Amino acid sequence: MTDRRTLITSLGAGLLLAASRHVLAAGMQCAPADCITCGPTGSSTAGPFYVSNTPATMDINLLHAPGTPMRVSGIVLGGRDGRSVLAGAKVELWQADSEGRYHPEDNGDIARYQADEINLRGQVATGVDGRFTFRSIVPAHYGNRRRHLHWRLVADGHVALVTQTYWQDERGTARERRDFVDRNPEECRWIAFRNEGAVVAGEVVFVLRPAA
Ligand SMILES: [Fe+2]
Repeated sequence: MTDRRTLITSLGAGLLLAASRHVLAAGMQCAPADCITCGPTGSSTAGPFYVSNTPATMDINLLHAPGTPMRVSGIVLGGRDGRSVLAGAKVELWQADSEGRYHPEDNGDIARYQADEINLRGQVATGVDGRFTFRSIVPAHYGNRRRHLHWRLVADGHVALVTQTYWQDERGTARERRDFVDRNPEECRWIAFRNEGAVVAGEVVFVLRPAA
């Protein structure tokens, strides 16, 4: 079933240009050259609080925790050229709340937990254009970590990816330099979040490696 849902569309040169324009039209902050030169996305640790089989929803603040509204959107690419749009890719997001706590601060399958123990976690599938969106709240810092989002991406014919993304405006700060987890994330994992009224919004490009 997943095979049927996952449609890998190989893009020709013209379509590639159209795709990059589409990304930019959606508010991508990187220059066109950067948008189409993200290499395979680097991996990072899942951390101790990954819960599997989280709800299929783009609105992951399930318990309406207080915080600054956040929207994070993206596109998932892959294929041999790393430029093919991956439709039907599974994208999971989990994160801390506005006090730096995870819900739950534990792991395992979601069946272990009551509904009121699960928050700020969810999964969506990319559309035919490879794009996805989540709505949530901005996570707080905790410990020596940069502000971050946790991701897991799965697409047919590609290597599953577990990674983290960061806030561009925190890059190079004293706080950021104290974080020794994932010390040198590549350019495309720094998200240039911006304010859109009351919402903090940003976009990310993920590039998955084809399975051998
Ligand atoms: Fe974390």
